[in-house]
Amino acid sequence: MVARGRQRLWKGFTMSKSDAKTKVPYWRELESNGRKKREGKYGIDLGERGIYDKRNKLNELTGKEWIYFTNSVWITAFPPVAGKDSGFDLRKIHPSPKPPELIKEIVCFFTKSNQWILDPFAGVGGTLIGASLCEPARNAVGIELNKDYVNAYKKVNSNLKLKKQEMICSDARNISRHKKIKERIFDLILTDPPYSDMMARNKNGQKKKLYGKNDASKFTFDDRDIGNLNRKDFLEELKSIISLALKYLKDKGYLVIFCKDFQPTDDSPNLLHNDVINKLIEIPCLRYRGLRIWHDQAMDLYPFGYPYAFVMNQLHQYILIFRKELLT
Ligand SMILES: C[S@@+](CC[C@H](N)C(=O)[O-])C[C@H]1O[C@@H](n2cnc3c(N)ncnc32)[C@H](O)[C@@H]1O
Repeated sequence: MVARGRQRLWKGFTMSKSDAKTKVPYWRELESNGRKKREGKYGIDLGERGIYDKRNKLNELTGKEWIYFTNSVWITAFPPVAGKDSGFDLRKIHPSPKPPELIKEIVCFFTKSNQWILDPFAGVGGTLIGASLCEPARNAVGIELNKDYVNAYKKVNSNLKLKKQEMICSDARNISRHKKIKERIFDLILTDPPYSDMMARNKNGQKKKLYGKNDASKFTFDDRDIGNLNRKDFLEELKSIISLALKYLKDKGYLVIFCKDFQPTDDSPNLLHNDVINKLIEIPCLRYRGLRIWHDQAMDLYPFGYPYAFVMNQLHQYILIFRKELLT
């Protein structure tokens, strides 16, 4: 429904009649081969996809694609859980690989063609594969401590015949030592750090089903793995690694970081995502810009606590969004 006295521009957007008289319209409608072609000062008609705004500095999406992405709740059923493609059988050596198709959507929102993405906690390469799946593929550099994960990424990437990205086997604390990183300015940092010592706890539910066992699976037994630290030390180390990585992010570039909460306990509500936000905004150039709640619909519900007490089935993760904003 368009409010009385307002003019419809395109689905969901209106402008008051007085504004419409004085402002140059975003686009005007012209008949073309029976289809209404929309052209304007800034708009390029991309047909079914909608209108691309030439002033768009962030990505190559149309207005409606952009707005769709800003929904704070995001429900998907991507592999690895829903399907077995994207090399999941090889990436499965990692206890929590991200679906590359999900990452592709994030990369497409926060970058344009030929831009660069950095992932300091790259695992088996969800970010790198996601960057290669974009059309056209973006460029990505990942750092990962564990050599087996690095090799798994390389194998999957070659099997899928995707654009080869740079995967460095190293401690993210040494980010400034790597030529492939220090000689470049990145457009996006997209990363999925360990969730404190969450993985050191026994698995249940979906994890047990996917991996066939319920023993705890740390990412690594390496002392340098920030997933082996207690919460306080984890938050400090995360802040210091992210601060180092931010040196190589352009001004007004985004940091997108995955996070998950723990089950509440008597001594803490365990809202890790809240702790991560509060810790990272201590970095002077970093502004918190909001989050998306990602619900992986392919995950099953399990009867934790039934029939005695409420125990949450945590099927969501947080995608926290920050922006580097240098003072001018
Ligand atoms: C949640 S996983 C990332 C999963 C990744 N998104 C994927 O799709 O495979 C976090 C990774 O950070 C790595 N890691 C932990 N501490 C690190 C450090 N100091 N330097 C580099 N990598 C580290 C772990 O080995 C683990 O693979």
